[in-house]
Amino acid sequence: MKIGMIGTGKIGFSLGPLLAASGHEVKFGSRDPARIRGEVAKFGHGASAGTYREAAQFGDAVFLAVPWHALAETLKAAGSLSGKVVVDCTNPLTKDMNLAVGCTTSAAEETARACPDAGVVKAFNTIFAGIYKAGDLGSGEQRLDMLYCGDDPAAKRTVAGIIESLGLVPVDAGPLSAARLIEPHAVLMIRLAFVQGMGAGIAWKLVGGRSGPNSASRGA
Ligand SMILES: NC(=O)c1ccc[n+]([C@@H]2O[C@H](COP(=O)([O-])OP(=O)(O)OC[C@H]3O[C@@H](n4cnc5c(N)ncnc54)[C@H](OP(=O)(O)O)[C@@H]3O)[C@@H](O)[C@H]2O)c1
Repeated sequence: MKIGMIGTGKIGFSLGPLLAASGHEVKFGSRDPARIRGEVAKFGHGASAGTYREAAQFGDAVFLAVPWHALAETLKAAGSLSGKVVVDCTNPLTKDMNLAVGCTTSAAEETARACPDAGVVKAFNTIFAGIYKAGDLGSGEQRLDMLYCGDDPAAKRTVAGIIESLGLVPVDAGPLSAARLIEPHAVLMIRLAFVQGMGAGIAWKLVGGRSGPNSASRGA
C-alpha cells in the first residue's frame, strides 16, 4: 500500500522504515525534505522524501506522526486529505506528559473534525518508537497488540491490514471516541516507562477474551 508518513521524528523514522521493509511504498513528509533525503535513501525499499503535501497526496494511507500541538498547522500544510485513510499516531500530551484532552474529546476526534472527508483511525500510538526501531514486535503467542479505533469501517479494515502486515495483532477498540481511552493508555505507558522506571522497552499484551488467549486478532 502507498503510505505517506508525515513527521520524521522518533515515530516517523522508526515506524516508517518498518512499513517500507514490510512491503509498503512509503513517502516521508517533512517540513524540510532536503534534510531527510540522505537518511530516507538509506532505508531502501523505494522509500522517498517530500513535503507534507507531497506525502499526503502520495499515500492511500497517511500517518500523522507529529506532536499533538503541531497537528493543526501540519494538517494545513498537508492540504486535502479527502478520501484518504488517516492514521492518527499522536498522543495529546502537555509539556509535563499529562493528557491535554480527554473525557469529552480526543486527539483523534479533533483530527476527524479537521478532515471530515477522510477515514480517520487512531492507531500506532501505544508502542514506543524504540520497539519499532528494533523491529522486535514479538512472535507467536507473544506478538504485540495494537489498539485501534475509528468510525469508518473500510478505513479500519485497511489499518487492521497494515497492523497485521507488520506482524502485530490488531485489537479493535470500537468507534473513534474510544481514542479517549486509548490515548490515556499511552500516557500510562509513558508513566510506567519514564516515571516508574520500567524503561521504553515495555509493551502491552491483551490475554484472554472470547477468542481465547492466543487468538490471532481481537474485537469486531
Ligand atoms: N516517541 C514515541 O515512542 C511515541 C510513541 C507513540 C506515539 N507517539 C506520538 O507520535 C507523535 C510523534 O512523536 P515523536 O516521538 O516521533 O516526536 P518527535 O521525535 O518530536 O518528532 C516529531 C516530528 O514532527 C514534525 N513536526 C511538525 N511540526 C513540529 C513542531 N512544531 N515541533 C516539532 N516537530 C514538529 C517533525 O518532523 P519534520 O521536521 O520532518 O517536519 C518532527 O521530527 C507524537 O504525537 C507522540 O505523542 C510517540
